[in-house]
Amino acid sequence: MPDEAADISSEKAIDGRMCEIIPERFRIEPFIMVIFGGSGDLSRRKLLPALFHIYLEKNLPEDFSILGFASTPRPDEEYREIIKGAILEFSPALFKEEEWERFSRRLFYMQGGFEDKESYRRLSKRIEELAGASANAKREAIYYMAVPPHYLPDIIQNLSACNLCKGSFNTRLIAEKPFGRDRESAVKLNRIIAAAFDEEQVYRIDHYLGKETVQNIIFFRFANSIFEPLWNRSYIDHVQITVAENMGIENRALFYEKTGVVRDIVQNHILQLLALVAMEPPVGFDPDFIRNEKVKVFKSIRAMDGEHVGKYSVSGQYGPGKINGKDVPGYRMEKGISPASDVATFIALKLYIDNWRWADVPFYIRTGKRMKERITEISIHFRQPPLSLFGTACEDREPNVLVLGIQPHEGISLGFGVKRPGGGSQLYPVEMNFSYMKNLKYESHPPYERLLIDCMKGDMTLFARQDGIEAMWGVVDPIIKEWENSPQPGLPNYEAGTWGPEGSDKLIEKDGRKWRLK
Ligand code: BG6
Repeated sequence: MPDEAADISSEKAIDGRMCEIIPERFRIEPFIMVIFGGSGDLSRRKLLPALFHIYLEKNLPEDFSILGFASTPRPDEEYREIIKGAILEFSPALFKEEEWERFSRRLFYMQGGFEDKESYRRLSKRIEELAGASANAKREAIYYMAVPPHYLPDIIQNLSACNLCKGSFNTRLIAEKPFGRDRESAVKLNRIIAAAFDEEQVYRIDHYLGKETVQNIIFFRFANSIFEPLWNRSYIDHVQITVAENMGIENRALFYEKTGVVRDIVQNHILQLLALVAMEPPVGFDPDFIRNEKVKVFKSIRAMDGEHVGKYSVSGQYGPGKINGKDVPGYRMEKGISPASDVATFIALKLYIDNWRWADVPFYIRTGKRMKERITEISIHFRQPPLSLFGTACEDREPNVLVLGIQPHEGISLGFGVKRPGGGSQLYPVEMNFSYMKNLKYESHPPYERLLIDCMKGDMTLFARQDGIEAMWGVVDPIIKEWENSPQPGLPNYEAGTWGPEGSDKLIEKDGRKWRLK
């Protein structure tokens, strides 16, 4: 890899030249947040640490209350201790005793059953109490569903029955993926939600959209005029999206056996990345302008039948191997996994977007657990020049590749060819690099913070809309169906700590291309 980086850093880029592109239209009003599953894993690991950090950064209004709702009886004080322990365990660097004392006074707990109607009558009273009786009583209530998805219908119907969805409070619902198991169940769930809430009250979280580098895709594409004219089938040969993880399924055997890689990563995170790369310029920065364009992309992805699934997708499951020099077990040997499981932990896929911009441009997608490293990137591979005047590039690399590094390398690089200095005539690939860390002194924030703030403000730009969710299921349903109806032979078929099964290389190599990361 050449290391000649053209450094485009500038202190001024951070200070003097920063501009507020979007005037702030939203602000956070005093609120009550009810977290269903308030003492569960997601709440302890992510939500409460994120809320505490938002508080430390002085982004919360003076008046707010957070109410954990879960099934175990316990007083507020005990709940506060649990959350303090969680912050100390999962985000120790954040902890500041004095601020914690003040923050924790806004933290409350209520025991209740998700399916128990009586609990919601008590909840209604508790919300009124927390809102206060004064003229500036809090009138915003946010319900966070940090619970397994099968509880959603009950919770929503019970909230609605107690007039807690559209009553005297301005309410919002935050829901976590998965939104259904396929298109049909997603439609059903959306109907239940729509019977209780208006679409403008529903915030469906895809944490990828809270990542700074993912949000930047829109800025990069539509704030610079030099790329957009080239951003189409005339100049782009193909696009690659890799979401590689080196961790396994951790302690989520039950979840993963029911989910698999397509539902876990492709239906949501990868299709969101693809939409941001492929969408048409929105006519403005309004949430719905952007979400409309994304839905158009999902609807233009070529539908697959069984034959296409066989031809354009490769499934994989990891066997034992080594990660960072340490032996790790195969998927079937993980605790809680069936020794005969056919669940896929890897997929490589070729998609086409049948519209004028992208006709015949393949999008190669790859994601898996226990791969060689943890890396997510999108690479745009431009066409070769029409005539080769200078012989082949050394290392046989394509000269013009634009890489959008999502994680852990957060940045953008553009490769181009130069003359290798010296007597001969040799083309040499170099890169221009932009790094968030180096150039903007930025270190990534957990995406939950941004998403929570946006929801509190009422900005829906980074949240998925009902029709988008259903259209995304429409893309992946045929793959899931095909794989479940005729389980893939030969699993496990890749060693932990590698870039996936051989078939994944073959998928792209038979088109005369290769994966950028290998
Ligand atoms: C989650 C998946 O949505 O995303 C996990 O359920 C996966 O299986 C995780 O590990 C990856 O997120 P990130 O931000 O670490 O890339």
